[in-house]
Amino acid sequence: MTGRAVSHAARVRGSLRVPGDKSTSHRALLLSALAAGTSVVRGLSTGDDVRASAAIVAQLGARMLVDGDAVSIEGPDGGLHASAEPLACANSGTTMRLVAGVASAIEGTHELVGDASLSRRPMDRVAVPLNLMGASVHGQGERACAPLTVRGSSTLRAIEYHVPVPSAQVKSAILLAGLSAGGHTVITEDVRTRATTEDMLVHAGLTVHSVDAGAGRTVTLTPGRPQAREWLVPADPSQAAFFLVLATVHADAEVELRDVLTAPERVGFLRVLARMGARVTSEETGGAVTWRASSAPLAATEVHASEVPSVDEVPILTVAAAAAEGVSAFRAVGELRVKESDRFTGSLELARALGCRAWAEGDDLYVEGLGDAGAFSPFALDARLDHRMAMAAAVAMTAGAGGVIEGSDTVASSYPDFFADLAFLT
Ligand code: S3P
Repeated sequence: MTGRAVSHAARVRGSLRVPGDKSTSHRALLLSALAAGTSVVRGLSTGDDVRASAAIVAQLGARMLVDGDAVSIEGPDGGLHASAEPLACANSGTTMRLVAGVASAIEGTHELVGDASLSRRPMDRVAVPLNLMGASVHGQGERACAPLTVRGSSTLRAIEYHVPVPSAQVKSAILLAGLSAGGHTVITEDVRTRATTEDMLVHAGLTVHSVDAGAGRTVTLTPGRPQAREWLVPADPSQAAFFLVLATVHADAEVELRDVLTAPERVGFLRVLARMGARVTSEETGGAVTWRASSAPLAATEVHASEVPSVDEVPILTVAAAAAEGVSAFRAVGELRVKESDRFTGSLELARALGCRAWAEGDDLYVEGLGDAGAFSPFALDARLDHRMAMAAAVAMTAGAGGVIEGSDTVASSYPDFFADLAFLT
């Protein structure tokens, strides 16, 4: 493996549109394939994760036509069918879990495979509810890891299900299977995770009722077939987070991020950064937002996982914590351990490599910041097939003293042009 050297940049300036939102992109493809008629999706994520979902919907029988930025998807009148070939989910947990839900409702046997990272991740969290609905979903070992065999059924039962871990992917797998179940599917979550699937199902003509209770919510789906639609995918806030933190911790930076999706469950990291002292302004631009951020001294803060559900932004917030004055705490972030890599250990190692004191207590993670990214040490990091760890490290290196990333190509799973965009800003 050859490492990629990332140098310190003297100055960070520019305006960017990061790739289309990954969560919206996967769902736009799946809902379009499930609908009868032709849908058009614009602004899809360019990452390999979303390409994997696109290839799978084609294998299941949807017809796709790419014309520049617009992808037309025609769902077959008679519905999707099983493919004799394995469904390759690559590095993408969202693909595997959502496709498991879709495949559960398609008669026949489906084999879902993934790369080395995805094959270590727990799939029992989707297998359990999908089996309760009458599909047969089985993987390897206690946690039902990939390869996953799904035997679908056209007569699924509707279930009432409490999702034991906050997970938008699990909720979405059940909702997608529930589209063809024989009654109302009811899902309760203790922490409100992104409502991308619910919102997009409503846009596709379905009836979904969501009721908030405390920090959680209950979602009730009336079964039905999605209608063909035009989808416009805004920019991904979780990708914008990398450049917002870069602009904040770098000593001489001003960055603008255009047309970003804003949804309460997705922008918790922004509230965290604001609390730390970040200078970020937000301007509404036709249903999305433009963020502008510039250098600012940061103070430590305490973050609970429920503030950043799905914990995707914790690795980059670790970089912010490392540049802040004082001890930051990330509480109840154990889910980090089952992401594309063990991001709990990875975030600890990243903070330590930067020169911070960092430690764990149970599922809580602590970082004692250096007060200034100028004090970061140069370091080397192995991305371990984890795009977000690679991008967080690159931000720290650009603001700090440089370094080397092994396996940096993994950024292609969500953001193939990440290093080009980073070069553009520096
Ligand atoms: C996603 C859900 C999240 C997140 C992932 C995308 C989705 O996982 O980590 O990047 O599109 O549903 P959870 O299932 O842990 O919420």
